[in-house]
Amino acid sequence: MKKHPDIEKVLLSSAQIRKGVEKLAGRISRDYRGKKLILACILKGGVVFLADLIRRLDVPCAIDFMSVASYGGGTTSSGRVRLIMDLRESPEGKDVLLVEDILDTGLTIEFLLENMKTRNARSVKVCALLEKPENRKVNVKPDYAAFRIPNEFVVGYGLDFAERYRNLPYIGILKKSVVDRSL
Ligand code: IMP
Repeated sequence: MKKHPDIEKVLLSSAQIRKGVEKLAGRISRDYRGKKLILACILKGGVVFLADLIRRLDVPCAIDFMSVASYGGGTTSSGRVRLIMDLRESPEGKDVLLVEDILDTGLTIEFLLENMKTRNARSVKVCALLEKPENRKVNVKPDYAAFRIPNEFVVGYGLDFAERYRNLPYIGILKKSVVDRSL
């Protein structure tokens, strides 16, 4: 596929993403054999990742969705996270895997892990497609992550900038001029 004109550089091609997701799914399938796995997808960014991940898992799993607000329209975290949509089913007694597009400052996952503590899940772990270790503000780590990326704002494969670019099949760094134009 041709590179979108707003993309500075393709960081991960769709073939690289496919391989990364496949590897991760293999690990998750081994670790969750015999467990009661619920994939709790964090909307909206995690949805493309979830869709590919579940098709590579060979253990029984349920899916559910949560939504938080944190970023607004810009490219830096506001530092505030709030729950705007909760899981439909109770996670009590289940093995919850939070499925996120990217772990950046860690504030979103810290908030969700805190929130999960009150729900009597059997276990709670974090699976992120991407992590930006350089920008971490709190001490949380993903249990599973397919790729570590530099501290750049990326879009595609579910990740957006002001609701755009989620449909790109690759992950790319957005041109600074595009960001500046919208701010
Ligand atoms: P955190 O709370 O800073 O870890 O950020 C988590 C959320 O911020 C992710 O689920 C994304 O929605 C958003 N985010 C962080 N970095 C990026 C990026 O580079 N591109 C698009 N969204 C991002």
